[in-house]
Amino acid sequence: MANPTRESVDLSVTIGRLVLSCPVVTASGTCGYGEELSTLCDLSRLGAFTTKSITVEPRSGNAPQRIVEVRAGMLNAIGLANVGLQRFVEEKVPALRRLGCPVIVNVAGRSIDEYATVCRTLDPLPEISALELNVSCPNVHNGLTFGTDAALLRDLVSAVRREVLRCVLMVKLSPNVTDISAMARAAIDGGAEALSVINTLLGMAIDIDTWRPMLANGTGGLSGPAIRPVAVQMVHRVYRDVARDAGIPIIGMGGVQTWRDAVELMLAGATAVGVGTALFVDPAAPQKIREGISDYLARRGLSRVRDLIGALRLDGEATGADGSTGAEG
Ligand SMILES: Cc1cc2nc3c(=O)[nH]c(=O)nc-3n(C[C@H](O)[C@H](O)[C@H](O)COP(=O)(O)O)c2cc1C
Repeated sequence: MANPTRESVDLSVTIGRLVLSCPVVTASGTCGYGEELSTLCDLSRLGAFTTKSITVEPRSGNAPQRIVEVRAGMLNAIGLANVGLQRFVEEKVPALRRLGCPVIVNVAGRSIDEYATVCRTLDPLPEISALELNVSCPNVHNGLTFGTDAALLRDLVSAVRREVLRCVLMVKLSPNVTDISAMARAAIDGGAEALSVINTLLGMAIDIDTWRPMLANGTGGLSGPAIRPVAVQMVHRVYRDVARDAGIPIIGMGGVQTWRDAVELMLAGATAVGVGTALFVDPAAPQKIREGISDYLARRGLSRVRDLIGALRLDGEATGADGSTGAEG
């Protein structure tokens, strides 16, 4: 058989019933509702576009300062600012059709009912291919964050599962937990068909002149290159502990800037890769990452990108020689 070329390599991957033309997708909250990015990046070359979180009611979000640049990343406390479900359906959904790639709508809420309402309304709309639950939100009823309590997460996903008949149901895991595999298991038990790994890590920055937090909210979510090794580790753990055997695909994200970062996450177990913070530096990054992956595959004589998924080579199955994580010292 002829050697593969960058044009002939097969970049397609599948997320549940959804076929993506390539494994590169945008990450929620970093590129609005699509139109904002479509003038700067050819979205038809992407695997999928992900919207910012949609909630039942419109939200203006937190007071400024709500974004702060830190070394190797950024902290944000946007507070889920969005136009709300009704305006999203009326004003934003019609334009999604023009993006030229499948659309994943990210969903957030303060109660199981709110998530269910958003999903029930959006599931039948043909412009939308998948619903991704952002579970890094506190539940107003008991103050617990949905994504940090396994029982609550399972209850949420199974309630939403009953509303989602057409779209692929994805759950985006929070890294702010001790055992992310337990959360992955709960999401899959509830009926998740795919997992996004990871959302932002809780962080804080202090202004040493004013002695006040840099973010008006006090704390925020850390993203960008600073969190990439955490994302690689968590994708690897979720893949190895739960997702591989359950046949559940992972969309890996966290600090991806280049095609090398994307390949690394795929070797760790990701089927597709999300690009978020890098868009603030270069809105065309996803396209460049796609091209870089094609060149890499062709150079290595590989004809299909899906052969990279979970292809990490380990000496023995333990994480370290003695089974430890290596983080002890
Ligand atoms: C400014 C900003 C806003 C974000 N908003 C959302 C959001 O609305 N919903 C969500 O699930 N994740 C949100 N995220 C998290 C990203 O989708 C992504 O999981 C995280 O930033 C890690 O990827 P990255 O390092 O490539 O940005 C946001 C991230 C940033 C930087």
